[in-house]
Amino acid sequence: MRKSDIMAPNATALAYEDVADVATYFSGQIRKPDALKDDSRVAWGESLFYSRMPSCAMCHGSAGRQGGLMMGRGMMGGGMGRGMGGMMGPGTANIPNLEGQHAAYIVDQLNRFTTGEREGEVMNRVATSLGEADTQAVAEFLSSTPR
Ligand code: HEC
Repeated sequence: MRKSDIMAPNATALAYEDVADVATYFSGQIRKPDALKDDSRVAWGESLFYSRMPSCAMCHGSAGRQGGLMMGRGMMGGGMGRGMGGMMGPGTANIPNLEGQHAAYIVDQLNRFTTGEREGEVMNRVATSLGEADTQAVAEFLSSTPR
């Protein structure tokens, strides 16, 4: 009797500890790719970011610094094809800055765009056209910026 009175709260405490351990384990997993950056893959990701068509840089800028070449205010407001003014406008507010973002986060978001779990007219198409290796490379490049 006395034993179980003591052990019952301990078991509860242990269960909470296990939850914390699991959470720590997963947060460790999420950060891992940033520590394993591979130079040649980063270089490949960089070339993809700037020279793919349409290039990520056209919208996200030089790794996010000055996006908006294609997605100016006019285009976002009026949809694709309308208003060439948008091509030149600054309009960067609705384009996320990808600079320095964790590679694992970028890979995760691109995968969500690919499956359609995350909706984004442009990004659903862009992400679907990227292979798994390209996705990893471009993510590692972005997480390595600014340089
Ligand atoms: C035509 C413009 C355009 C191009 C080209 C483009 N993007 Fe995007 N991207 C966007 C917009 C707009 C969003 C925001 C979507 C939303 O509303 O969620 C976005 C979102 C993202 C996100 C999610 C960021 C976050 O903070 O969650 C990632 C990652 C991303 N883009 C990566 C890329 C990569 C890599 C490329 C090139 C292979 C690329 N994008 C090409 C316009 C573009």
